[in-house]
Amino acid sequence: MTEHGRYDLLKAPGAPVDSPRRSLVLVIDDDAMNLKVLKGYLTLDGYEVAVAESGPEGLERLEAGGVDLVVLDVRMPDMDGYEVCRRIRANSRHARTPVIFLTADQVDEKRELLGLDAGGDEYLHKPISRRVLSARVRNLLRLADAEREHMLLRQIAHSEKLAAIGQVAAGVAHEVNNPLSFILSNLDSLRVYFNDLKQVLQAWQQGPEAGRAMERKVGLESILSDISPLLDETVHGGRRVRAIVQELKTFSRSEEAPMEAVDLAAVARSTLLLTERELSARGTVERDLQSAPIDAAPRQKLHQVVLNLVVNAMQAVEARPLPEGQRHVLGLRTRTVGEFAELEVSDTGCGIPEANLTRIFEPFFTTKPVGVGTGLGLSVCALVVELSGGTIEVKSTIGAGTTFLIRIPRAGPGKHG
Ligand SMILES: Nc1ncnc2c1ncn2[C@@H]1O[C@H](COP(=O)(O)OP(=O)(O)OP(=O)(O)O)[C@@H](O)[C@H]1O
Ligand SMILES: [Mg+2]
Repeated sequence: MTEHGRYDLLKAPGAPVDSPRRSLVLVIDDDAMNLKVLKGYLTLDGYEVAVAESGPEGLERLEAGGVDLVVLDVRMPDMDGYEVCRRIRANSRHARTPVIFLTADQVDEKRELLGLDAGGDEYLHKPISRRVLSARVRNLLRLADAEREHMLLRQIAHSEKLAAIGQVAAGVAHEVNNPLSFILSNLDSLRVYFNDLKQVLQAWQQGPEAGRAMERKVGLESILSDISPLLDETVHGGRRVRAIVQELKTFSRSEEAPMEAVDLAAVARSTLLLTERELSARGTVERDLQSAPIDAAPRQKLHQVVLNLVVNAMQAVEARPLPEGQRHVLGLRTRTVGEFAELEVSDTGCGIPEANLTRIFEPFFTTKPVGVGTGLGLSVCALVVELSGGTIEVKSTIGAGTTFLIRIPRAGPGKHG
């Protein structure tokens, strides 16, 4: 990324991830000389520049789209800079576009406050130093970029979560199917037993002899000893289905995840509940889930993080078939280390080439075929871990495997160190 370039998160599919586009600065000033000078400065700094000679013309240019930052004169005849800025802010599309006021007036606190109240981000005085303007523009664009990326990632976090669920859906279906089928077959047996018991009752109504004869015929003793374990098993199966469905609900909620107390071990356990079958089909699952509590973290989103890492691990081991008789190892570990709660997901899969290690957290970076990966999984993980005040690290060796380590401060974001 060049100094003033920016990643376009919504780039056309297939465009290289790191093709920067130049930022576009719109300068609105009624003085042709000022326009020329500012355009010269900004062009030298590597920006695209659009100019407008009045407030209304500037607003029109803004509507046409593509503007990343506005430099705005204060005193203009048709509509002053304050009013232009208020109108920019009133439009939700531009509510976050940075605005720098430029004024020829003397330093005046009241007027400066007026500009900032109108929604301006900076208030600079003419004659403007080229280097100051350059630094302000660069800083504001950088902030706006970071904020924009953050918002987009939040939006895609939801669809990404559903995509990850889609990938384990087959396993989940199996998890649910298993208990359901024994619940149904148990109910069948219970119905047969119930009919037998009804017959015994009816026989007893005819007299003790008939009753006892019927008891022997249906095998009353073995029925009675069977029923209770059958009921227990059925209830157990029902509870398991309920637990799985509840897990799915955790994943499918779309609202903002509130910050709450959470134990990473519990998060890992519930991810395993959904994925264990898929994981065991691909390798030996090694788990070591020690208590790793955190006071405040976006719990629901952490479920998604672990699921994304586990899905990646499954895909990585699939990409490296082993010789007959050897098995892959998929590891899930949690523990508390000092002030941090740690979670580690490891695999013995294909590994990540060194050149890719710096890019895997970028949105849309994927090495998987179209339809398999969107390249959002790890960028969402990085976002959620950042929201939690933590870090995510990766170690990988080609042909040997990969380990992702997440460390989150136990006291919650911003409260450690
Ligand atoms: N455990 C792993 N082993 C090997 N490579 C990995 C592993 N995890 C991630 N990668 C690499 O990082 C890339 C980005 O991962 P990420 O989860 O962000 O996207 P994806 O898995 O390709 O797609 P998505 O998760 O959106 O379905 C992957 O395409 C892959 O090349
Ligand atoms: Mg992924």
